Parts: sequence; C-alpha cells; structure tokens
Amino acid sequence: MSADASPFTELTGSARHAALAELAARGPLHRTTLFTGVPVWLVTGHDEVRALMADPTVVKPPAPAPHSDRLPAELDAAMNHNMLLRNPPDHTRLRKLVSAAFTRRRIDELAPRIRELTAELLDDLARAGAGGQPADLVSLFGYPLPMTVICELVGVPDDRRHAFRQWSGVLINGTVHPAEEYIAAASAMVQCIRELVEEKRAAPADDLLSGLVLAQDGDDRLTDDEITSTIVLLLTAGHETTVSLLTIGVHTLLTHPRQLGLLRSQPERIADAVEEILRFDGPGQAPVPAITAEPVEVAGVTIPAGEVIVPALLAANRDPRRYAEPDEFDITRSGSPHVAFGHGIHHCLGAPLARLEARIALEALLARFPRLRLARPDEEPARPPGLLLNTIPALPVLID
Ligand code: HEM
Repeated sequence: MSADASPFTELTGSARHAALAELAARGPLHRTTLFTGVPVWLVTGHDEVRALMADPTVVKPPAPAPHSDRLPAELDAAMNHNMLLRNPPDHTRLRKLVSAAFTRRRIDELAPRIRELTAELLDDLARAGAGGQPADLVSLFGYPLPMTVICELVGVPDDRRHAFRQWSGVLINGTVHPAEEYIAAASAMVQCIRELVEEKRAAPADDLLSGLVLAQDGDDRLTDDEITSTIVLLLTAGHETTVSLLTIGVHTLLTHPRQLGLLRSQPERIADAVEEILRFDGPGQAPVPAITAEPVEVAGVTIPAGEVIVPALLAANRDPRRYAEPDEFDITRSGSPHVAFGHGIHHCLGAPLARLEARIALEALLARFPRLRLARPDEEPARPPGLLLNTIPALPVLID
C-alpha cells in the first residue's frame, strides 16, 4: 500500500496519467510522501474520493497554505480567510455571501460578453497566425479570456490586470515557488486588493467586489480579511483552472482527430465534449488537501485522526471500476459524472462559469479555424510540477 511514485512532478500529461494508473492498479488508497516532504494518504479510487470529499469529518486544515510557516500572520489572514480553507459554519456563511453572484441565471447573462471577448481574441489569434506563423494559443486565447471575464465580474480595472496574472501564477502553484517569491506575490496582491476595497467603498459599482463590500455593512458582516482573501480566491481559482481547461481542451481535441471530426460535424455536442475534456485530463490534479478530524475507514483501512488526505482527481476520473475504457477520449460517453470540479460542500462555485466559457470559446475557435492544428505535433507539451494544477503553459498552433 505504500507508493513512491510522484505523479505531481511528472512533466508530461501521458507520464502523469501513467504514474497515476500504475498507482491505481495497486488499489484505491496509498500511504505516500508528497514531493513537498509531507506524508499523506493519496486516494486514487473514484468512489473513495467522493466519499472522503463528502465526509464532514474530513476537514480543511486551518493553515494549509504553502510557506505558511514563513508567511507573516497578517498576510496569512488576508490570504487564507476564504471559504475554500474553512469548514462549517464559517464555510457556509462565506459561500452564501458570494453564491448570489454565481447563480446559473447571473452566469448565463454573461454569455453575450463572453462571445464578444472570444470574437476579439480570435481576431488577435488570426493576426498572429497569419501566413503560417505558429501562434501561442495560451497567451493569445486561453489566458486572456478567463482573466478578462473574472476581472470584469469582480471589478478589477484594466490597468491592474496584468499584475494579477503574474501574482496568481505564483500563488496557485505555491509549493514549487521559493518562499520569498510566494510572499512577494502574496503581499503585492493583498495590497492591491486592499486599495480596490477602499475605492469600491468610496464609490460602489455594479460588480462583485462592491457587492462584498456592501454585504459587510449588512447584518452579516464580512471582515476586511475575509473580503480580501475571497477576492484572492476568485481571481486565482477563477482563471488559472479555466485557462487550463481551454488549453488542454484544444490539445486533447487536436490529438484525437476522430473525436474532433465528430465535434466539427455535430457542434451541438460541445457541452458533452467539455465534460469529457474535464474527465479525461481535467485542470485539477488535487483539491486543497484535507485532514481527518476523526479516524475514517476507506477501502478496508482505518486512517487515524490528524492525517492528510489528497484526492487524486485525475486518477479518480479514469477509475476503470467507474468508466469503461477510461483512457479513451470519447465525447459520446454518457453516464458517470466526473469529479473535476470536486465534490461535497466545496464543490466548485465557479463550475457554471467555467463550463459556459469553455463551451463558447471552443465552439467559436473550431468554427473560425477549420484547419487548426498543432505546430509541433510530435512534441508532447511540458506541464509544470505542482500539487493542484494540471496545465500546459504554452501551445503553439497553426491556423491556416
Ligand atoms: C475548469 C475550471 C475549474 C475547475 C476545474 C475548478 C475546480 C475546482 C475544484 C476541484 C474545487 C474544490 C477544491 C477543494 O475542495 O479543495 C473548486 C472550488 C472552488 N472554485 Fe473552482 N474550478 C474551476 C473554475 C472556477 C471558476 C471560474 C471560479 C470562479 C469564478 C471558481 C471558484 C471556485 C471557488 C470559490 C471554490 C471554493 C468553493 C468552496 O470552498 O465552497 N472555480 N474548484
């Protein structure tokens, strides 16, 4: 039951999935040590992942942030007082205050703006790729779309968006960045959000940040640290993952020509295609690790209280006990839902937004560029090591 492989540091998608499959073949639960040196229980079985993520005795740790031992207390509070790192009743309260902005109706209302932004970015991509030039799909399309959408929703002005992108890239992958770099990014982001909070307090606008500031003045008050760290969460979780969904989505489609052909001939399958991309090679390697508050039994093993649980989402989504031919990418697949958005009370709040962006963006991209293909079809794109994110930082494509 012990395992030495570290799928989180494998540097290509195929090696990462192969390492996970090798582990999963040994059983659904593994005692192992993460590349960070932390001993954990790594869970690869789909049913076991769902059970543990829904178990109220498996809780988010109070201070799990990377480098939290070096983070000044004041900065730690401004970064980590958000729903993702909290348990009920705090979690319930924080999530409720933000949920109003993420109802299906509110998200569906964003569709025209997402279409407009997508069309503008496709023009940029067309210009960059004109004359057979390779164009980077990530920096020209995958990145700017979710970043602009989440910044507009939250209310981050244009001139501060570039800096947010740099900081969040460090914060979301904190375990692999040196402490100094992490702390510098955290300080800069927190300071910038505090300034924005003051600006919205003085002149509220029709955006989520103003809504949170106003909610602070109602019956249910949010502290300044809660507002700041909720915004940190939305800006990081709200775009890095969606960038990855778009980028990995395009890579997966372009490397599976029969499925791509099917989607091109039947564009109404786009919603199913997005779900299959999420299952086959989702943006999350693992959620934020949780701790057993009491002993818990999993797959015949009793895990004692106080142990760290790491659900391996990529493995759970390819569990052969749950999916027929799990390593096949098949957009006609039906049945078992995936756990790419997590499970239980922390199930992704932004899932409807991520799905909407991916459906609009991928459909429009394929329609605009019928000859879209990889510029380096023989190279598997590199993936950065890290515990949380599964992503491709650059993807050169040819469009004509
Ligand atoms: C494809 C894109 C996305 C994926 C794969 C994804 C994945 C996840 C996962 C796995 C969790 C659970 C984490 C845990 O239990 O530790 C989560 C939570 C969360 N996500 Fe997403 N996410 C995506 C997009 C978004 C977007 C666009 C937003 C916001 C605009 C967002 C906001 C959140 C928030 C606020 C939580 C915390 C919910 C809670 O603790 O109650 N996510 N996400």
